[in-house]
Amino acid sequence: MPPAKPVLARLLRAAADVRRNAYAPYSGFQVGAAVLAGGRIYAACNVENSSFPLGVCAERNAVAMAVAAGEKRVDALAVVGGGARPAAPCGGCRQVLAEFAPAEAPVIYATPTGVPVAATVGALLPSAFGPADLKAAERGSRRSSAAPSPGKRRSAARARGSRTTGR
Ligand code: THU
Repeated sequence: MPPAKPVLARLLRAAADVRRNAYAPYSGFQVGAAVLAGGRIYAACNVENSSFPLGVCAERNAVAMAVAAGEKRVDALAVVGGGARPAAPCGGCRQVLAEFAPAEAPVIYATPTGVPVAATVGALLPSAFGPADLKAAERGSRRSSAAPSPGKRRSAARARGSRTTGR
């Protein structure tokens, strides 16, 4: 069952509150995000860095907090950012979200004062690449297992106690 409206409203409020802590001195673009996982809310902001590529988005920080608390499934996400229009999660954050959230999980995003836009993980990232693709590839390589995958060769070598270069 999707989270109830009041829960999503609380999620949005948490995202708006944490946005005030955004560390965004370089872009000036402050973002707050909150994920619902295991019935709890994990909220985080974007954290930029003077070494620009090291900055991390609010959504990814929020997902990391949930995972660090032991959660493996995200049930909803709220994002607050943008000025003239609400900022939807960036492509990288959509991929990170899809790792933990089902396609039907709600995503709401809004400006600090505006009406939220409602989407889902699946609508934001259709045909997502995910853990199931890796598992399917593993099954495929087991079927044609005359030549085991490099990962399998390495673990077999480890099991035998031999050294491997990984190449
Ligand atoms: N940002 C987020 O926190 N989430 C997004 O989905 C898009 C962008 C941050 C990254 C950077 O600190 C600032 O917004 C401008 O890109």
